[in-house]
Amino acid sequence: MLIDGGPGPVAAEEIEILSLPLWAWQVTFAVVGVVALALLARTVWEPTVRSLRWWALGNVVVNAGIAVTGATVRVTSSGLGCSEWPKCTEESFVPVGTDHSAFNAAIEFGNRTLTFLVLAVGVIVFIATLRLRPRRRDLRVMATVIPLGVLGQAVLGGITVWTDLHPASVASHFLLSMVVVVVAVAYYVRCREPEGVLRPTVGPAARALATALLPVGFLLLAAGTVVTGTGPHGGDAEAPRWGFDLVLVTRVHSVLAWAVLAGALAMVVLTLRTGSRTARVQSLLLAGAVLLQGVLGYVQYLLGLPEWLVVLHVLGSALVWIAILRLYFGTAERVSAPEGAPAAPAEAVR
Ligand code: HEM
Repeated sequence: MLIDGGPGPVAAEEIEILSLPLWAWQVTFAVVGVVALALLARTVWEPTVRSLRWWALGNVVVNAGIAVTGATVRVTSSGLGCSEWPKCTEESFVPVGTDHSAFNAAIEFGNRTLTFLVLAVGVIVFIATLRLRPRRRDLRVMATVIPLGVLGQAVLGGITVWTDLHPASVASHFLLSMVVVVVAVAYYVRCREPEGVLRPTVGPAARALATALLPVGFLLLAAGTVVTGTGPHGGDAEAPRWGFDLVLVTRVHSVLAWAVLAGALAMVVLTLRTGSRTARVQSLLLAGAVLLQGVLGYVQYLLGLPEWLVVLHVLGSALVWIAILRLYFGTAERVSAPEGAPAAPAEAVR
């Protein structure tokens, strides 16, 4: 078995993952983290735009990734593997004497530990941004918001445990991650552009459609969380549910998916006629991602929501959301304008 320790009250020292005790994994991760930070310290203290972009990419990956590991917590019913917050149990920060199985405790505790990684990357990007010369006010604002969002996630995680996994709280937890991803993607895109004026790289119709895809895409994510909060994977067998009709909420969710697919295909057509290469590529990527995710959505529904497909669907959600954001940011770029001069004309817009 992947995780050993048996059901019922467990002590942290009893938990083994791949035949290694939990403490050995913790020490290994801490050592790897410290060594990696020592090797990469220069990229934080004396950042270049290139090194910053790599850290910014890391920020996107960890913030999207924690949503996927959070889904693993839900589908394995490990949401209350640690029944308290910020401590795991009333007596301990680690899973000592939890009422849940070692498997559940290790998954929930592992997900909590990952929050530190997400926070660490956010803080690293913040420090590197402060050290960047010339100073960038826009990047500093975004780099401040990201770790604050992660701290907000930690608080929401606590509320989720205290409310015994209420679906509203579970959903907000996922959706806040997606909001932090917005800022992380914005940072990633903008850190290689100057702090200048915004210039569209597509025609007005395509820019308007890419903007409209943001709220529709977010609504699609939110509707997905309602399906989850109605279905079997709310985080625990006893977790409260919305009590809606599962078929109906799934239908609403899939209609929104069709709307996003239609928007993505329209973007492909529009950017083929009036767009930059970047916008064209991003439109194609979004259309492909929504198509795959939609197929996955129908397959998991028809197969009765097998756990591993649900986790894959959450990974797909994060990728579709990133594709929507990349497309939006790809429809305009910042260019430096000489003082007093009007913005340069958009050469790619015909
Ligand atoms: C194509 C774009 C789609 C996106 C971005 C998307 C996104 C999501 C999200 C964010 C969730 C909630 C995950 C969570 O709360 O952790 C979800 C759940 C779900 N989605 Fe989709 N979805 C899409 C398409 C579809 C389609 C076409 C179907 C077809 C019926 C579908 C069926 C479901 C079901 C059944 C769930 C509940 C799974 C569970 O029990 O947790 N999805 N989706």
